[in-house]
Amino acid sequence: MSEFARELVAGLASRPRAIAPKWFYDVAGSRLFDRICELPEYYPTRVELALLERHASHIADLIGPGAEIVEFGAGSARKLRMLLDALASPARYVPIDISGEHLLQAAAALRADHPGLVVRPVVGDYVAGVDLPDPVGRRVGFYPGSSIGNFDPAQAQALLRRIAAITRGAGLLIGVDRVKDPALLHAAYNDAAGVTAAFNLNLWARANIEAGADFDLGAWHHAAFYNAPLRRIEMHLVSRRAQVVTVAGQRFEFAEGESVHTENSYKYADEAFAELARAAGFVPRAAWTDPARLFTLHWLASPARDGAGPTDPT
Ligand code: AVJ
Repeated sequence: MSEFARELVAGLASRPRAIAPKWFYDVAGSRLFDRICELPEYYPTRVELALLERHASHIADLIGPGAEIVEFGAGSARKLRMLLDALASPARYVPIDISGEHLLQAAAALRADHPGLVVRPVVGDYVAGVDLPDPVGRRVGFYPGSSIGNFDPAQAQALLRRIAAITRGAGLLIGVDRVKDPALLHAAYNDAAGVTAAFNLNLWARANIEAGADFDLGAWHHAAFYNAPLRRIEMHLVSRRAQVVTVAGQRFEFAEGESVHTENSYKYADEAFAELARAAGFVPRAAWTDPARLFTLHWLASPARDGAGPTDPT
C-alpha cells in the first residue's frame, strides 16, 4: 500500500475523520492550487508577492550576499523569483516540495530564466524531514505562502524549531496570514468559480487513482468555514447522503452530512506569531504588513552557530 493509501485508511478509521492537507498536491492538485492563487478572492498570494516586491531590497540586505536559499514547499517558485533580482549573488537555491513533477518543472523553468543560478530541487516532505545537500553558503530559510498555517500551533512550533536548526547562523523569511474579518476569510476559501471546491474534491479523485478507492465525487461537497475561537479556516469534504466507500479493500460507512476534515489554515496576529517563533528559538527582527493588514512577512533571526543565541547582524 502507498503511504497515501495507508494514511487515508487510518484517517477514515479515526474519529474525527481527517487527512493531512499535504495529500492535496498531486499534479492535478498542484495545478488547482496555482489557479487558487490567481482567484480574485484569494488575497494571500497577491498580497505576499506585493510585499516581496516592495521590500525586496531590504529583505535582500537582511539575507546578505552569497546565501543559500532553502525554500519549504516551493511549488512553482514564483515568490523566489520576486526576490532574485535584489539578491546579491545567491550561492544556491534549494526548493523542497512534495509534488515532484511540479517541482522539477519549476526548477527547469527557473534555470532557463536565470542561467547563473544554481538550482538544486529536493523532492520530499519537509515535515517528515528531508536530506539536504551540504550547505554551500549561509543557509537562509524561505517559507512563504502561510503554509505554516496548516499546522496547529504545537506542530508549527516543532517545525519552526527544526527550521531554526537547519538555518543556524542565518534566518528565516516566512509569510503568515493574519487574523482578519471572517467574511474576507470565508470568501477566500469559498470562491465563486469553485476552484477551491475542486481542489478539495481532487483528494477523492486522487484516492480513486492512487489508493484503490471508489469515491463518487458527486456524492460529496466542499465545506470551508472560519473557526473563530481557534483562529483557523477548516476545510471538510461532506457526504451528501448515507453511503459506503471502499478504500484499498476496506469499507467505510458515511452518514448523510458526515465530514472528513481535510485542512486547517491557522491565522495569526503579528505578535502571536512572533511569540510562537520565539518559543521555537528564533528572534523576530522585522515584519512587513500590507496597508489592508491582510498578510505579514516576518524576518526571524536563527540561533547562532555556536548555539549561544540568535545571530547579531541580522
Ligand atoms: C498553501 C496552506 C497556505 O491555507 O490558504 C488554499 C492552501 N487551501 N485554499 C491556505 C489552501 C485552500 C493554502 N496554503
